[in-house]
Amino acid sequence: MRETVEAMLHTRLSARKGGVVDRRSGNSSPLMEELAHNQQTLRELEGKLLPRPSRPVVIAVANQKGGVGKTTTAVNVAAALALGGLRVAVIDSDPQGNASTALGIPHTQGTRSTYEVLLGESSLREAFRPCPDIPGLVVCPATIDLAGAEVELVDEPERATFLREAVDELLVSPDRPDIVLIDCPPSLGLLTLNAFVASDGLLIPVQAEYYALEGLSFLWRTVERIRDELNPGLQQLMIVVTMIDGRTRLSAEVASEVREHFPEQVLNATVPRSVRVSEAPSYAQTVLTYEPRGTGSVAYRLVAHEMANRLAAADSAIEPDLESTDG
Ligand SMILES: Nc1ncnc2c1ncn2[C@@H]1O[C@H](COP(=O)(O)OP(=O)(O)O)[C@@H](O)[C@H]1O
Ligand SMILES: [Mg+2]
Repeated sequence: MRETVEAMLHTRLSARKGGVVDRRSGNSSPLMEELAHNQQTLRELEGKLLPRPSRPVVIAVANQKGGVGKTTTAVNVAAALALGGLRVAVIDSDPQGNASTALGIPHTQGTRSTYEVLLGESSLREAFRPCPDIPGLVVCPATIDLAGAEVELVDEPERATFLREAVDELLVSPDRPDIVLIDCPPSLGLLTLNAFVASDGLLIPVQAEYYALEGLSFLWRTVERIRDELNPGLQQLMIVVTMIDGRTRLSAEVASEVREHFPEQVLNATVPRSVRVSEAPSYAQTVLTYEPRGTGSVAYRLVAHEMANRLAAADSAIEPDLESTDG
């Protein structure tokens, strides 16, 4: 299955290199090239069901940096996985509730949410709401109450395992999801800790910008500590490079630098910077439904495809490369 994705990516690259000639001017146009390779990739993905992991998998979408594309990645990958035939749940664990917004789920104060789940006042199944546009996708929303949780729970001896308990309960239910994605806030506080303890792996979005690698080795060390002390099952580490600007050399350089440091973990599929991707949440949509045939959709479908293949294939651990990148 992995080969399929690689073959697909290879096709995309060759399509790009070959170029597409504008019939009127006789020139190759980047826009036409992009449209052509989107069409081709879509044809290849058409009707393709994603592989189902043999047991449910929980992935935290995390990076302590803000604005790197965590929420965007969580909601679009979730949508792509669900549209690929998997049963998917998103747990919004950022008090901003941006993932809830993007997936069309109300999250005003008083809504049953991740806050009640952490406090043990609700199960995840009771808090789940179906995403209106995407069959097979349910969401546990976040309300602003979650902002208080870090403070309220800080003295509880079991403070790191509240989410894990709720997730464990969910995963033994007959209608359990195949994949759970947790959208983390931009910090390594108690909410993120709960997500790491509840997860089998991480999807780390890295923004293609100058300081991309800064902070990653700290995140890596945190993962190591959590494995040693709290959750040895936190094994599947994946990095996705986001917001690549095809017009700048910097973007390409950053992407290859991240790849050099984390060759095992970085997904082949990357996400370009796209206005449609950033517009979609204001229509309470993912880019998969907002512009199904656009560059952003194609990119996130490829990310989801590659992820699903990795999760289905790998029962073995992926050891992180602990070479320091920022001291
Ligand atoms: N591929 C993309 N192209 C354009 N804008 C993007 C892309 N990914 C994310 N953004 C925008 O960047 C900002 C930060 O993204 P977000 O997913 O909210 O980051 P985080 O959750 O890490 O804070 C948002 O305004 C979002 O719309
Ligand atoms: Mg976010």
